[in-house]
Amino acid sequence: MRQAKRIVVLTGAGISAESGLGTFRDEGGLWAQHRIEDVATPEAFARNPDLVHRFYNARRIQAAEAHPNPAHEALARLQNAFDGDVTLVTQNVDGLHEKAGAQVIHMHGELARALCADCAHRWDAPREMSVGETCPACHAPSARPDIVWFGEMPYHMERIIDAVQSCDLFAAIGTSGQVYPAAGFVEEARVCGADTVELNLRDSDTSHAFTDHIIGPASKTVPAWVDRLLS
Ligand code: APR
Ligand code: ZN
Repeated sequence: MRQAKRIVVLTGAGISAESGLGTFRDEGGLWAQHRIEDVATPEAFARNPDLVHRFYNARRIQAAEAHPNPAHEALARLQNAFDGDVTLVTQNVDGLHEKAGAQVIHMHGELARALCADCAHRWDAPREMSVGETCPACHAPSARPDIVWFGEMPYHMERIIDAVQSCDLFAAIGTSGQVYPAAGFVEEARVCGADTVELNLRDSDTSHAFTDHIIGPASKTVPAWVDRLLS
């Protein structure tokens, strides 16, 4: 792998698994406990906002008490020590990359933030949100979790695609490659000439698109991978 100067790292729920936060599609994952159409779509929130708030309240409280693991810490170290550009994009909403000191682009929003469905104002969410919560800016009772639900456009896509198209190394860590547009980034990077590496416990739906694979738990593989990049 030639000396990279511009790295893009995409993370998924697998990087936070060893911090005690459940993934979505592993055995017993979140989508085995809840139906997406009940808790993670705009229609679900319109139909039963209390159920949706309770789903995110439980995850917000759990994430607030969780700690970054050596994988999150290694990526923060890479960003601070690498002689080049490291763009970190996450599908996760748990806030663990920031807790580790990294700069991160949240494409699916953040549990720690609330969004006004009326005026799009954002603010720090309380530990538990409830139905009819009012927006501090327009005072409408239209507060919702600042989470990108299925059927909604992920955030910061232009900035992300720019970085993916101009990187020379693209890495995906702990993602099953089942949700687009994130699952398509590797192809985009590859056609633009980047080397590609996947770090996961096992093969994902997009493993075929990566030239290199590092199999193992992120808390072990990511620090070793970062050490090699920084040596
Ligand atoms: N180390 C490395 N990889 C791991 C670990 C670990 N300790 N534990 C699990 N994994 C891998 C799994 O093998 C799987 O490929 O993490 C991946 C988790 O996949 P998903 O649960 O599908 O999570 P993710 O890919 O982040 O989901 C993407 O789907 O539901 C939406 O918005 C949600 O952001 C989420 C998106
Ligand atoms: Zn508002």
